[in-house]
Amino acid sequence: MKPIKNLAIIAFVLMSMGSMAQNSKLRSFTPGAIWPDNKGVHINAHGGGLLEFDGAYYWYGEHKIEGKAGNRAMVGVHVYSSNDLYNWKDEGIALAVSENPESLIVKGCIIERPKVIYNAKTKKFVMWFHHELKGMGYSAAKTGLAVADSPTGPFEYIHSVNPNAVQWPLNFTAEQKQMSFPEELKSWSEEWLEAVADGLFIHRDFEKGQMARDMTLFVDEDGKAYHIHASEENLTLHISELNDEYTAFTDRYVAVMPAGHNEAPAIFKKDGKYYLIASGCTGWAPNAARSFVADQIFGPWTSLGNPCRGSEEQVETTFDSQSTYILENPENPGEFIFMADRWAPDNAIDGRYIWLPLEFEDDKPVINWNSEWTLK
Ligand code: GAL
Repeated sequence: MKPIKNLAIIAFVLMSMGSMAQNSKLRSFTPGAIWPDNKGVHINAHGGGLLEFDGAYYWYGEHKIEGKAGNRAMVGVHVYSSNDLYNWKDEGIALAVSENPESLIVKGCIIERPKVIYNAKTKKFVMWFHHELKGMGYSAAKTGLAVADSPTGPFEYIHSVNPNAVQWPLNFTAEQKQMSFPEELKSWSEEWLEAVADGLFIHRDFEKGQMARDMTLFVDEDGKAYHIHASEENLTLHISELNDEYTAFTDRYVAVMPAGHNEAPAIFKKDGKYYLIASGCTGWAPNAARSFVADQIFGPWTSLGNPCRGSEEQVETTFDSQSTYILENPENPGEFIFMADRWAPDNAIDGRYIWLPLEFEDDKPVINWNSEWTLK
Protein backbone atom coordinates (compact mmCIF):
# COMPACT_ATOMS: atom_id res chain seq x y z
CA MET A 1 0.00 0.00 0.00
CA LYS A 2 1.27 3.46 -0.86
CA PRO A 3 2.02 5.70 2.17
CA ILE A 4 -0.42 8.33 0.90
CA LYS A 5 -3.25 5.77 0.81
CA ASN A 6 -2.20 4.55 4.25
CA LEU A 7 -2.53 8.04 5.64
CA ALA A 8 -5.94 8.47 4.07
CA ILE A 9 -7.17 5.24 5.68
CA ILE A 10 -5.78 6.25 9.10
CA ALA A 11 -7.39 9.68 8.79
CA PHE A 12 -10.73 8.10 7.85
CA VAL A 13 -10.62 5.68 10.80
CA LEU A 14 -9.71 8.48 13.23
CA MET A 15 -12.48 10.71 11.90
CA SER A 16 -15.12 8.04 12.19
CA MET A 17 -13.92 7.21 15.73
CA GLY A 18 -14.24 10.89 16.57
CA SER A 19 -17.76 11.18 15.24
CA MET A 20 -18.72 7.93 16.98
CA ALA A 21 -17.57 9.46 20.27
CA GLN A 22 -19.66 12.54 19.52
CA ASN A 23 -22.73 10.58 18.54
CA SER A 24 -22.72 7.89 21.21
CA LYS A 25 -25.24 8.91 23.80
CA LEU A 26 -24.65 8.40 27.50
CA ARG A 27 -27.56 6.70 29.21
CA SER A 28 -26.39 6.48 32.82
CA PHE A 29 -24.26 8.20 35.48
CA THR A 30 -20.90 6.57 36.21
CA PRO A 31 -19.56 8.43 39.27
CA GLY A 32 -15.79 8.90 39.31
CA ALA A 33 -15.29 7.93 35.64
CA ILE A 34 -14.19 10.27 32.87
CA TRP A 35 -17.35 12.12 31.79
CA PRO A 36 -17.08 13.04 28.10
CA ASP A 37 -18.92 16.10 26.78
CA ASN A 38 -20.35 16.33 23.24
CA LYS A 39 -16.80 16.65 21.88
CA GLY A 40 -15.53 13.62 23.78
CA VAL A 41 -13.59 15.80 26.26
CA HIS A 42 -13.86 15.22 30.05
CA ILE A 43 -16.27 17.83 31.44
CA ASN A 44 -14.40 20.74 32.99
CA ALA A 45 -16.84 22.24 35.52
CA HIS A 46 -15.61 21.57 39.05
CA GLY A 47 -17.25 22.78 42.26
CA GLY A 48 -20.28 23.10 40.05
CA GLY A 49 -23.90 24.05 40.27
CA LEU A 50 -26.92 23.35 38.07
CA LEU A 51 -29.57 25.67 36.70
CA GLU A 52 -32.76 24.53 35.01
CA PHE A 53 -34.08 27.12 32.58
CA ASP A 54 -36.66 26.86 29.83
CA GLY A 55 -36.54 23.06 29.68
CA ALA A 56 -32.73 22.81 29.54
CA TYR A 57 -30.09 22.23 32.20
CA TYR A 58 -26.94 24.32 32.57
CA TRP A 59 -23.91 23.12 34.53
CA TYR A 60 -21.52 25.86 35.68
CA GLY A 61 -18.19 25.05 37.27
CA GLU A 62 -14.54 25.92 37.71
CA HIS A 63 -12.57 25.43 34.50
CA LYS A 64 -9.31 23.80 35.61
CA ILE A 65 -6.09 23.42 33.65
CA GLU A 66 -3.45 20.69 34.00
CA GLY A 67 -1.15 20.49 36.98
CA LYS A 68 -1.24 22.38 40.27
CA ALA A 69 -1.69 25.67 38.38
CA GLY A 70 -5.22 24.44 37.69
CA ASN A 71 -6.16 25.16 41.29
CA ARG A 72 -6.20 28.85 40.38
CA ALA A 73 -8.51 30.52 37.85
CA MET A 74 -6.55 30.55 34.60
CA VAL A 75 -9.58 30.49 32.28
CA GLY A 76 -12.81 31.15 34.17
CA VAL A 77 -16.20 29.56 34.70
CA HIS A 78 -17.17 26.88 32.18
CA VAL A 79 -20.80 26.19 31.20
CA TYR A 80 -22.38 23.11 29.61
CA SER A 81 -25.99 22.47 28.58
CA SER A 82 -28.05 19.30 28.56
CA ASN A 83 -31.56 18.00 28.00
CA ASP A 84 -31.21 14.79 29.99
CA LEU A 85 -28.47 15.39 32.63
CA TYR A 86 -26.31 12.58 31.14
CA ASN A 87 -25.15 14.23 27.90
CA TRP A 88 -23.58 17.67 28.11
CA LYS A 89 -22.79 20.11 25.33
CA ASP A 90 -19.78 22.39 25.77
CA GLU A 91 -21.15 25.96 25.74
CA GLY A 92 -17.76 27.55 26.40
CA ILE A 93 -16.61 29.98 29.07
CA ALA A 94 -19.47 31.81 30.77
CA LEU A 95 -17.27 34.13 32.84
CA ALA A 96 -13.74 34.67 31.59
CA VAL A 97 -10.82 35.75 33.78
CA SER A 98 -9.27 39.05 32.77
CA GLU A 99 -5.85 39.67 31.26
CA ASN A 100 -5.87 43.13 32.85
CA PRO A 101 -3.68 43.13 35.99
CA GLU A 102 -5.90 45.85 37.44
CA SER A 103 -8.99 43.62 37.30
CA LEU A 104 -9.97 41.77 40.47
CA ILE A 105 -10.74 38.70 38.34
CA VAL A 106 -7.30 38.75 36.73
CA LYS A 107 -5.97 35.38 35.51
CA GLY A 108 -4.36 33.62 38.50
CA CYS A 109 -6.91 34.73 41.09
CA ILE A 110 -9.18 32.06 42.64
CA ILE A 111 -12.75 31.55 41.41
CA GLU A 112 -14.50 28.61 43.04
CA ARG A 113 -17.92 26.98 43.32
CA PRO A 114 -19.79 29.30 40.88
CA LYS A 115 -23.59 29.09 41.09
CA VAL A 116 -26.15 30.70 38.78
CA ILE A 117 -29.80 31.55 39.42
CA TYR A 118 -32.35 33.20 37.13
CA ASN A 119 -34.17 36.32 38.21
CA ALA A 120 -37.62 36.41 36.60
CA LYS A 121 -38.15 40.08 37.47
CA THR A 122 -35.00 41.41 35.75
CA LYS A 123 -34.71 38.50 33.28
CA LYS A 124 -31.03 38.29 34.22
CA PHE A 125 -28.87 35.28 35.03
CA VAL A 126 -27.07 36.00 38.28
CA MET A 127 -23.81 34.27 39.17
CA TRP A 128 -22.14 34.34 42.59
CA PHE A 129 -18.81 32.63 43.24
CA HIS A 130 -16.16 32.29 45.93
CA HIS A 131 -13.48 34.81 44.99
CA GLU A 132 -9.94 35.12 46.29
CA LEU A 133 -7.66 37.88 45.06
CA LYS A 134 -4.53 37.05 43.11
CA GLY A 135 -1.48 36.44 45.26
CA MET A 136 -3.40 36.64 48.53
CA GLY A 137 -4.04 32.95 49.16
CA TYR A 138 -7.47 32.47 50.69
CA SER A 139 -7.36 35.60 52.86
CA ALA A 140 -9.80 37.86 50.97
CA ALA A 141 -12.73 35.43 51.46
CA LYS A 142 -15.10 37.35 49.20
CA THR A 143 -18.12 36.48 47.13
CA GLY A 144 -18.13 37.72 43.54
CA LEU A 145 -21.11 38.76 41.44
CA ALA A 146 -21.49 38.51 37.66
CA VAL A 147 -24.62 39.00 35.54
CA ALA A 148 -25.69 37.89 32.05
CA ASP A 149 -28.66 38.10 29.67
CA SER A 150 -28.28 34.51 28.52
CA PRO A 151 -27.66 31.31 30.54
CA THR A 152 -24.45 30.64 28.61
CA GLY A 153 -23.18 34.17 29.15
CA PRO A 154 -21.05 36.07 28.60
CA PHE A 155 -21.34 37.05 32.27
CA GLU A 156 -20.22 40.55 33.18
CA TYR A 157 -18.24 40.75 36.40
CA ILE A 158 -19.75 43.37 38.72
CA HIS A 159 -17.77 43.26 41.99
CA SER A 160 -16.83 41.15 45.02
CA VAL A 161 -17.90 41.73 48.59
CA ASN A 162 -17.47 40.68 52.17
CA PRO A 163 -21.16 40.50 53.00
CA ASN A 164 -23.27 41.88 55.81
CA ALA A 165 -20.94 44.65 57.04
CA VAL A 166 -22.14 46.39 60.20
CA GLN A 167 -24.97 43.87 60.70
CA TRP A 168 -25.43 41.28 63.42
CA PRO A 169 -26.89 37.89 62.51
CA LEU A 170 -30.64 37.68 63.17
CA ASN A 171 -29.99 34.86 65.63
CA PHE A 172 -27.43 36.81 67.68
CA THR A 173 -28.58 37.58 71.23
CA ALA A 174 -28.37 41.02 72.86
CA GLU A 175 -25.67 39.54 75.07
CA GLN A 176 -23.61 38.38 72.08
CA LYS A 177 -23.73 41.88 70.58
CA GLN A 178 -22.18 43.31 73.75
CA MET A 179 -19.45 40.71 74.13
CA SER A 180 -15.75 41.41 74.06
CA PHE A 181 -13.10 38.74 73.79
CA PRO A 182 -9.70 38.35 75.42
CA GLU A 183 -6.86 39.19 72.98
CA GLU A 184 -4.75 36.10 73.18
CA LEU A 185 -7.12 33.15 72.99
CA LYS A 186 -5.21 30.08 71.77
CA SER A 187 -6.78 28.66 68.62
CA TRP A 188 -8.49 25.32 68.95
CA SER A 189 -8.56 25.56 72.75
CA GLU A 190 -11.97 24.99 74.30
CA GLU A 191 -12.15 28.67 75.27
CA TRP A 192 -11.36 29.74 71.72
CA LEU A 193 -14.03 27.47 70.22
CA GLU A 194 -16.54 28.84 72.73
CA ALA A 195 -15.56 32.38 71.77
CA VAL A 196 -15.97 31.51 68.07
CA ALA A 197 -19.44 30.13 68.81
CA ASP A 198 -20.23 33.36 70.67
CA GLY A 199 -19.24 35.44 67.67
CA LEU A 200 -15.49 36.18 67.98
CA PHE A 201 -15.05 36.51 64.20
CA ILE A 202 -18.40 38.21 63.60
CA HIS A 203 -17.19 40.93 65.97
CA ARG A 204 -13.74 41.03 64.32
CA ASP A 205 -15.22 41.42 60.81
CA PHE A 206 -18.21 43.56 61.81
CA GLU A 207 -17.01 46.77 60.13
CA LYS A 208 -15.44 45.36 56.97
CA GLY A 209 -18.02 42.63 56.28
CA GLN A 210 -17.99 38.90 56.93
CA MET A 211 -15.82 36.25 55.30
CA ALA A 212 -17.41 34.23 52.47
CA ARG A 213 -15.64 31.13 51.18
CA ASP A 214 -17.33 27.86 50.00
CA MET A 215 -20.77 28.88 48.84
CA THR A 216 -24.02 27.94 47.20
CA LEU A 217 -27.28 29.64 46.24
CA PHE A 218 -30.85 28.61 46.89
CA VAL A 219 -34.10 29.98 45.46
CA ASP A 220 -37.11 29.25 47.62
CA GLU A 221 -40.64 28.55 46.38
CA ASP A 222 -41.62 32.17 47.06
CA GLY A 223 -38.84 33.40 44.74
CA LYS A 224 -36.60 34.64 47.56
CA ALA A 225 -32.95 33.73 47.08
CA TYR A 226 -30.31 32.94 49.68
CA HIS A 227 -26.52 32.92 49.64
CA ILE A 228 -25.09 30.21 51.88
CA HIS A 229 -21.38 30.30 52.65
CA ALA A 230 -18.63 29.21 54.98
CA SER A 231 -17.74 32.26 57.07
CA GLU A 232 -15.79 33.05 60.25
CA GLU A 233 -12.52 31.34 59.16
CA ASN A 234 -14.62 28.38 57.89
CA LEU A 235 -15.88 27.77 61.42
CA THR A 236 -19.51 28.81 60.89
CA LEU A 237 -21.90 28.76 57.93
CA HIS A 238 -23.90 31.90 57.20
CA ILE A 239 -27.23 31.93 55.39
CA SER A 240 -27.97 35.38 53.93
CA GLU A 241 -31.00 36.71 52.12
CA LEU A 242 -30.44 38.31 48.70
CA ASN A 243 -32.45 41.29 47.42
CA ASP A 244 -35.27 40.94 44.88
CA GLU A 245 -32.80 41.24 41.97
CA TYR A 246 -30.49 38.60 43.59
CA THR A 247 -27.60 41.04 43.12
CA ALA A 248 -27.03 42.24 46.70
CA PHE A 249 -27.28 41.11 50.30
CA THR A 250 -30.22 42.49 52.31
CA ASP A 251 -28.17 42.25 55.51
CA ARG A 252 -30.59 39.70 56.93
CA TYR A 253 -28.52 36.64 57.81
CA VAL A 254 -28.06 33.91 60.40
CA ALA A 255 -25.07 31.99 61.73
CA VAL A 256 -25.67 28.25 61.40
CA MET A 257 -24.06 25.63 63.64
CA PRO A 258 -21.63 28.11 65.24
CA ALA A 259 -18.06 26.73 65.39
CA GLY A 260 -19.30 23.56 63.64
CA HIS A 261 -16.48 23.81 61.07
CA ASN A 262 -18.68 23.06 58.05
CA GLU A 263 -18.05 23.97 54.42
CA ALA A 264 -19.01 22.90 50.87
CA PRO A 265 -22.71 23.60 51.59
CA ALA A 266 -25.42 22.09 49.37
CA ILE A 267 -29.08 22.72 50.14
CA PHE A 268 -32.49 21.49 49.06
CA LYS A 269 -36.11 21.55 50.21
CA LYS A 270 -38.42 18.59 50.58
CA ASP A 271 -41.98 18.55 51.93
CA GLY A 272 -41.57 22.03 53.37
CA LYS A 273 -38.32 21.24 55.22
CA TYR A 274 -34.86 22.56 54.36
CA TYR A 275 -31.93 20.15 54.24
CA LEU A 276 -28.28 21.08 54.18
CA ILE A 277 -25.36 18.80 53.42
CA ALA A 278 -21.84 20.00 54.12
CA SER A 279 -18.31 18.73 54.60
CA GLY A 280 -15.67 19.29 57.21
CA CYS A 281 -12.66 21.47 56.39
CA THR A 282 -9.64 19.52 55.13
CA GLY A 283 -8.78 21.41 51.93
CA TRP A 284 -8.76 19.20 48.83
CA ALA A 285 -8.66 16.01 50.92
CA PRO A 286 -12.04 14.37 51.46
CA ASN A 287 -13.71 14.01 54.85
CA ALA A 288 -17.03 12.90 56.34
CA ALA A 289 -20.19 14.68 55.20
CA ARG A 290 -22.79 15.98 57.61
CA SER A 291 -26.48 16.79 57.18
CA PHE A 292 -28.87 19.21 58.85
CA VAL A 293 -32.59 19.97 58.77
CA ALA A 294 -34.68 23.05 59.53
CA ASP A 295 -38.33 24.09 59.30
CA GLN A 296 -37.31 27.56 58.20
CA ILE A 297 -34.32 28.52 56.13
CA PHE A 298 -33.08 30.82 58.91
CA GLY A 299 -33.24 27.89 61.30
CA PRO A 300 -32.90 26.69 63.95
CA TRP A 301 -30.97 23.91 62.20
CA THR A 302 -30.66 20.44 63.72
CA SER A 303 -27.94 17.94 62.98
CA LEU A 304 -28.95 14.67 61.27
CA GLY A 305 -25.46 13.13 61.16
CA ASN A 306 -23.50 11.67 58.28
CA PRO A 307 -25.80 10.94 55.32
CA CYS A 308 -23.36 8.52 53.64
CA ARG A 309 -23.86 4.76 53.87
CA GLY A 310 -21.38 2.04 52.89
CA SER A 311 -17.94 0.90 54.02
CA GLU A 312 -16.16 2.82 56.76
CA GLU A 313 -13.88 4.40 54.18
CA GLN A 314 -16.80 5.45 51.98
CA VAL A 315 -18.63 6.95 54.96
CA GLU A 316 -15.53 8.73 56.32
CA THR A 317 -14.57 10.23 52.94
CA THR A 318 -17.99 10.85 51.34
CA PHE A 319 -16.98 8.31 48.64
CA ASP A 320 -13.69 10.21 48.24
CA SER A 321 -15.47 13.46 47.39
CA GLN A 322 -16.86 16.74 48.69
CA SER A 323 -20.39 18.09 48.24
CA THR A 324 -21.11 20.87 45.78
CA TYR A 325 -24.81 20.85 44.82
CA ILE A 326 -28.08 18.96 45.17
CA LEU A 327 -30.57 18.92 42.30
CA GLU A 328 -34.20 17.89 42.55
CA ASN A 329 -35.09 16.23 39.25
CA PRO A 330 -37.70 18.63 37.81
CA GLU A 331 -39.12 15.76 35.76
CA ASN A 332 -39.59 13.62 38.84
CA PRO A 333 -40.09 15.77 41.94
CA GLY A 334 -38.88 14.04 45.08
CA GLU A 335 -35.90 12.52 43.28
CA PHE A 336 -32.64 14.19 44.32
CA ILE A 337 -29.12 14.01 42.89
CA PHE A 338 -26.21 14.60 45.27
CA MET A 339 -23.32 16.17 43.35
CA ALA A 340 -19.78 16.19 44.65
CA ASP A 341 -16.19 16.65 43.51
CA ARG A 342 -13.39 14.13 43.71
CA TRP A 343 -10.59 16.72 43.60
CA ALA A 344 -7.25 16.09 41.90
CA PRO A 345 -5.12 18.95 43.30
CA ASP A 346 -1.88 17.74 41.61
CA ASN A 347 -3.55 17.67 38.21
CA ALA A 348 -6.64 19.78 38.78
CA ILE A 349 -8.18 19.17 35.34
CA ASP A 350 -8.53 15.47 36.18
CA GLY A 351 -11.00 16.09 39.03
CA ARG A 352 -13.96 13.68 38.81
CA TYR A 353 -17.67 14.13 39.44
CA ILE A 354 -19.50 12.02 41.97
CA TRP A 355 -23.22 12.22 41.28
CA LEU A 356 -25.26 9.85 43.44
CA PRO A 357 -28.93 9.36 44.26
CA LEU A 358 -29.93 11.06 47.50
CA GLU A 359 -32.75 9.14 49.15
CA PHE A 360 -34.66 9.30 52.43
CA GLU A 361 -34.69 6.79 55.28
CA ASP A 362 -36.53 7.58 58.51
CA ASP A 363 -36.86 11.21 57.41
CA LYS A 364 -33.09 11.51 56.98
CA PRO A 365 -31.21 12.03 53.72
CA VAL A 366 -28.99 9.05 52.85
CA ILE A 367 -26.47 8.55 50.07
CA ASN A 368 -25.29 5.14 48.90
CA TRP A 369 -22.54 4.38 46.41
CA ASN A 370 -23.66 3.28 42.96
CA SER A 371 -21.05 2.87 40.22
CA GLU A 372 -23.66 3.10 37.45
CA TRP A 373 -27.21 4.34 37.79
CA THR A 374 -30.03 6.08 35.99
CA LEU A 375 -32.78 8.48 36.95
CA LYS A 376 -36.10 6.87 37.85
C1 GAL B 1 -11.72 23.12 50.16
C2 GAL B 1 -12.87 23.84 49.48
C3 GAL B 1 -12.55 23.94 48.01
C4 GAL B 1 -11.22 24.67 47.89
C5 GAL B 1 -10.14 23.94 48.67
C6 GAL B 1 -8.80 24.65 48.62
O1 GAL B 1 -11.91 23.02 51.53
O2 GAL B 1 -14.06 23.14 49.67
O3 GAL B 1 -13.58 24.61 47.35
O4 GAL B 1 -11.35 25.97 48.39
O5 GAL B 1 -10.53 23.81 50.00
O6 GAL B 1 -7.88 24.00 49.47
